[in-house]
Amino acid sequence: MRYRQKGRSPCGEGKLKIEVVHSKLLSELERKRIVAFCSRAYDEDMEPVFSTFADATHVLGFYGGSLASHALWITRDLQVDHLPPLRTAYVEAVATHPAHRNRGFATAIMRRLAIEIQGFDLAALSPFDVRYYTRLGWEVWQGPLLIRTRNGLQPSPEDEVVMILRLPKTPVLDLTRPLSAEWREGELW
Ligand SMILES: CC(C)(COP(=O)(O)OP(=O)(O)OC[C@H]1O[C@@H](n2cnc3c(N)ncnc32)[C@H](O)[C@@H]1OP(=O)(O)O)[C@@H](O)C(=O)NCCC(=O)NCCS
Repeated sequence: MRYRQKGRSPCGEGKLKIEVVHSKLLSELERKRIVAFCSRAYDEDMEPVFSTFADATHVLGFYGGSLASHALWITRDLQVDHLPPLRTAYVEAVATHPAHRNRGFATAIMRRLAIEIQGFDLAALSPFDVRYYTRLGWEVWQGPLLIRTRNGLQPSPEDEVVMILRLPKTPVLDLTRPLSAEWREGELW
């Protein structure tokens, strides 16, 4: 998959070329290719999940002109206790093509993503592996996780794990306090 350069920000990262593109700038074909790429990486149909990602920004890593690694962020409002909500870059769909794994591609994508989201109050994600993100500077939220619904706060299952990344605008945080996110369709975290 090749992309037009207009309105995008390509950058060399070793042999991986990284582009950051808002979903609004993607053609339907490009969007479908990204969904197919992630479906292959996750070994499941990602279309239903992607259809819930309004306003996503994709970080795309190309190797030899083909998509090799990907992550995206959406905007969510996370709230510590009853403190003002934090405008949060919530990371999803971190994926590397099976043929290109263990070469640092997802690491490069996540590092670039962290640079791109500096204007947010916070970053968060639900990790596949805590150690993987710990070495990239992410921290496990230790307090209870809750979802804000029309009927009030609903606790998340005990085994739910959320990690956060502090950004320049992140206020002082107590990671042991309750953390809530707005309800959304599909995976709540
Ligand atoms: C997870 C994934 C994105 C990593 O991509 P990658 O480009 O190979 O990652 P990197 O090269 O930056 O890092 C590789 C490291 O991650 C580790 N790793 C990869 N998958 C892992 C897993 N499921 N559990 C624990 N560690 C894992 C590797 O062992 C390697 O560790 P090392 O550097 O100590 O040898 C890729 O394996 C993938 O697409 N997996 C399927 C989709 C998925 O699970 N995504 C994560 C959702 S949060």
